[in-house]
Amino acid sequence: MSVTVRVPAKVNVRLAVGAARPDGFHDLANVFLAVGLHDEITVTPADELTVTCSGPDAHQVPLDTTNLAARAAIALAGRHGIDPRVHIHIAKDIPVAGGMAGGSADGAGALLACDALWSLNSSRDELLAICAELGSDVPFSLVGGAALGVGRGEQLTPLDTGGDFHWVFAMADGGLSTPAVFREFDRLTEGTDVPAPTADPALLEALRAGDAVALASTLANDLQPAALSLRPSLADTLSAGTAAGALAALVSGSGPTTAFLTKGPDAAAEVAEALLASGTCRTARVAQAPAPGATVVRHGAA
Ligand code: C5P
Repeated sequence: MSVTVRVPAKVNVRLAVGAARPDGFHDLANVFLAVGLHDEITVTPADELTVTCSGPDAHQVPLDTTNLAARAAIALAGRHGIDPRVHIHIAKDIPVAGGMAGGSADGAGALLACDALWSLNSSRDELLAICAELGSDVPFSLVGGAALGVGRGEQLTPLDTGGDFHWVFAMADGGLSTPAVFREFDRLTEGTDVPAPTADPALLEALRAGDAVALASTLANDLQPAALSLRPSLADTLSAGTAAGALAALVSGSGPTTAFLTKGPDAAAEVAEALLASGTCRTARVAQAPAPGATVVRHGAA
């Protein structure tokens, strides 16, 4: 018996960051969009909790209980008074420490997969509560689509999207630590009056209308200066994508993946090719958005 769940990556089309809170987190107005790059999480009964990972970046993935997939299994089992005797396999396609919520995707995926494997039938609200304990981006990985996240990003309101958006993602060599990028944001904004974060109504309207040109003119990521400060070479990647015809370019979340919004599938293929040829990134991938959230894709004999 095994269960496999597919979970999308995300890009933040608006990441508005407020001042640091007393608990060290930052209040956000975070407009998430799920994109069609996926990890697949397969859970199988086992004598003890184990994690394995496959894919080009597998060697960068921790296989102990710091992995959000393992923590999700432990948290769910703990709520039901059972032992998390499960083998979790992560087939990884989302960049590791890339600013695309790959670790969060694995947490949400393992949670949904274990819930099905153990026939717990948890409500969506119960699963979302565990997701929020696991990390700020984990609830969105479960729900997918498009959503506004406030608080530390975990309090979600679903958003309508009027059509598909065509993106290119340029993966960088090595990752960036999210806490380090937030610390750099604090350093860069020290002594300034950081405004309360808000979502731009024009951006929400562009999403609702499915209008890529309008969305391009409203994309913004307050963490971008911090990510560029820690990784200045990302500026070259951003320029290469816009020179190749992308409507807009921005750092995805805390980076270092960069995201390019294009007019359609043909433009996306051209931008991806130009980015690869530019030598400013490790690889470039096209992906469509919005993508559905975590979904059981196989449930049966292993
Ligand atoms: O919630 P998560 O564990 O994913 O957050 C990782 C780190 O990112 C936090 O420890 C914190 O340094 C930073 N963070 C933040 N404000 C948020 C979300 C994350 O400062 N709203």
